[in-house]
Amino acid sequence: MTRRLLRGRTLTFLRWPETADDLASCRYEEDGGLLFEDGRIADAGSYDAVRGRAGANIEVVDHRPHLLLPGLIDCHVHMPQMQVIGSFGAELLDWLNTYTFPAETQFRDAQHARRIARLFLEEMLRQGTTTVVAYCSVHRQSVEAFFAEANALDMLTIAGKVMMDRNAPDGLLDTAQSGYDDSKALIAQWHGVGRQHYAITPRFAITSSPEQMGAAGALAAEFPDLHIQTHLSENHAEIAYTQELYPWSRDYTDIYAHYGLTGPRSLFGHCIHLSERETDALVQSGSVAVFCPTSNLFLGSGLFPYQPHRRRPKPLRIALATDIGGGTSYSMLRTLDEAYKVIALQGEKLNPLASFWQATLGNAQALSLEDRIGTLDVGSDADVVVLDTGAVPAMRLRMETVTTLAQELFLLQTLGDDRCVVETYVAGKPLKHGIIGQAETSSA
Ligand code: GUN
Ligand code: ZN
Repeated sequence: MTRRLLRGRTLTFLRWPETADDLASCRYEEDGGLLFEDGRIADAGSYDAVRGRAGANIEVVDHRPHLLLPGLIDCHVHMPQMQVIGSFGAELLDWLNTYTFPAETQFRDAQHARRIARLFLEEMLRQGTTTVVAYCSVHRQSVEAFFAEANALDMLTIAGKVMMDRNAPDGLLDTAQSGYDDSKALIAQWHGVGRQHYAITPRFAITSSPEQMGAAGALAAEFPDLHIQTHLSENHAEIAYTQELYPWSRDYTDIYAHYGLTGPRSLFGHCIHLSERETDALVQSGSVAVFCPTSNLFLGSGLFPYQPHRRRPKPLRIALATDIGGGTSYSMLRTLDEAYKVIALQGEKLNPLASFWQATLGNAQALSLEDRIGTLDVGSDADVVVLDTGAVPAMRLRMETVTTLAQELFLLQTLGDDRCVVETYVAGKPLKHGIIGQAETSSA
């Protein structure tokens, strides 16, 4: 069998980069090689060394002078919200009621769900994102459509059926029992199939009754290895309404903790307005806060305190995400740019090495999946993005003055987007331009 050997400038992170000069935090090869075998990275290092060890039956793909990075990871995104992006003029609760819930209601139609799931994953691949942590809709068929498409593409994904049994239109409600039963059936059907992972997905405390929160907690206890995803502390009106619905709770975080929904596999979208007590509770439980800069800006939700969270004696675990359709770009490069600005508005900076650490190894660690994704280490899944910093004239011009790797990365995040993505490899296969021509894989 022919194996694929990629040649280019390889960059992978080893740990959090303290400064823009902290090159010990990463491994960078000016003329690097990555050997793919059976969907994994079988060898990595200098091109000459990897070529020398590789033997016969090698197809070399020469990506010089482009950068080869681990595929980008998006830790919070809503598949059924592709047609919600750019909906004008509302804050969170109005935005949900006016635009988002009606759009999600359409996913009762399996054909619509399949169409959008396919377009969604293809768009992610066009943007260099190889793993998504996705919310589907309340409808079981939306999750079936999502996983069928992701499995056909061999993408590593985490996704789940939204559980929501109140405060939404009828066409978008399950019940505590049916939400539990459908989630359990989907876990049996999809968790561990290929690269698919199921996430228990109560939308948020406003749209789940106490009975349903209990059912989500029961699932979490039955399936302790599964991820859990929900929303927390995004918007002041949301927080106040949540407090009315759960008057016994100390605060918003306390509600999720009460139902057994905090912990190292729990991903809490937004977490903008947490109190000290709530932040401590998340830190102590090992929970993850997901920073969604374009969405937090677009909906006017607030500024996520990234650096204060990282500076705590025991840092809060943080992931980064687009949050489509509250978010305004599918691109993790655009998302890094907005993250930088959100942090800058709080009088701090995020160095460019740390930015790219966050979108790769940092996000993989937040998902506890760093042994599979987020690095170019030997043994990792062969999910790789190829980036061209000179993709457009304005970037080529600016590149004339760039002298360091950190400067180049900063240019990529400041001016870059899908035009910089030359190729996206998923489990070793080039998929930026879709599955057509991929003889080994068939789509449903
Ligand atoms: N809170 C509950 N549901 C949602 C959603 O779909 N998007 C965002 N941004 N926040 C939410
Ligand atoms: Zn969300």
